[in-house]
Amino acid sequence: MKVWTVVNQKGGVGKTTTAISMAGSLSSQGYKVLLIDADPHASLSNYLNIDDSSHTLYDIFLSNDLTELTDPCTHISCAKGIDIVPANSLLTTLDRQFAQESGKGLVVKKYLAMMHEKYDVTIIDCPPVLGVLMVNALVAAQLVVVPTQTEFLSLKGLSSMMQTIDLLTPSMRENFKIKIVATMFDKRLNACQEAYKRLKSDYPSQLWRGYIPMDTKFRHASEKGLPIQQFSPLSRGSYAYEKLTNKLMQTALTKSSKQTTRVVTASV
Ligand SMILES: Nc1ncnc2c1ncn2[C@@H]1O[C@H](COP(=O)(O)OP(=O)(O)OP(=O)(O)O)[C@@H](O)[C@H]1O
Ligand SMILES: [Mg+2]
Repeated sequence: MKVWTVVNQKGGVGKTTTAISMAGSLSSQGYKVLLIDADPHASLSNYLNIDDSSHTLYDIFLSNDLTELTDPCTHISCAKGIDIVPANSLLTTLDRQFAQESGKGLVVKKYLAMMHEKYDVTIIDCPPVLGVLMVNALVAAQLVVVPTQTEFLSLKGLSSMMQTIDLLTPSMRENFKIKIVATMFDKRLNACQEAYKRLKSDYPSQLWRGYIPMDTKFRHASEKGLPIQQFSPLSRGSYAYEKLTNKLMQTALTKSSKQTTRVVTASV
């Protein structure tokens, strides 16, 4: 099973849209996908109209014995070929509860190890905040997808996110590669073109050489609670995410070659 984490500390850059759209693309190709909503705001769960689940990612964190948490206890089918572990607002309490506890950075990784045979790909949607949830999602990942809106302020946000990743200990980030994905790209706008050029020069090896275009179909798909592939399969947005997931599926799972200069604080 592949584990892809979608992360960026900058809000509103297309993380949740990327998570659901990659899931939609993979499921349309016959892959079995598990989504994990790791954002206490539960945007992904809400997108899929799951707003009253009694079992969420919070139960997984609180469990003393993960083997007791068999699905369908935690997994809800939400769209064709896609299951989700939903979020709720109790997740905001995790940082306070587990601040002093070691081992809490590995909860999601351990849980997913038990799901190995059931899914082809797990996609984790992160909150725009560094804490227990983001650390868990990064440690569990083989591939970290960083959506970045093609505009100046988002480039600054991206640079902070990359610094945060650099702060992880080598052992925490030894298993993942990074792919930066330009989102909400409008080729008619000079500002977008300039931001994309800058991404290419600043992150030559990590930037995916495609882009996700601005497409109003994403908003309409979210209103219907469907991945864009199931709402508008022939749209530009659907096609772009298909190209992205095809590329990511081919990405070799080799260790990140980037060297780290600083070492960190967070305990796993
Ligand atoms: N390519 C796109 N074209 C047009 N609209 C988009 C595109 N991608 C995302 N959006 C819209 O932008 C808004 C923000 O997207 P999204 O919720 O995915 O961002 P996010 O990074 O998850 O935000 P947050 O940090 O709050 O979790 C949503 O209304 C979404 O429909
Ligand atoms: Mg989101």
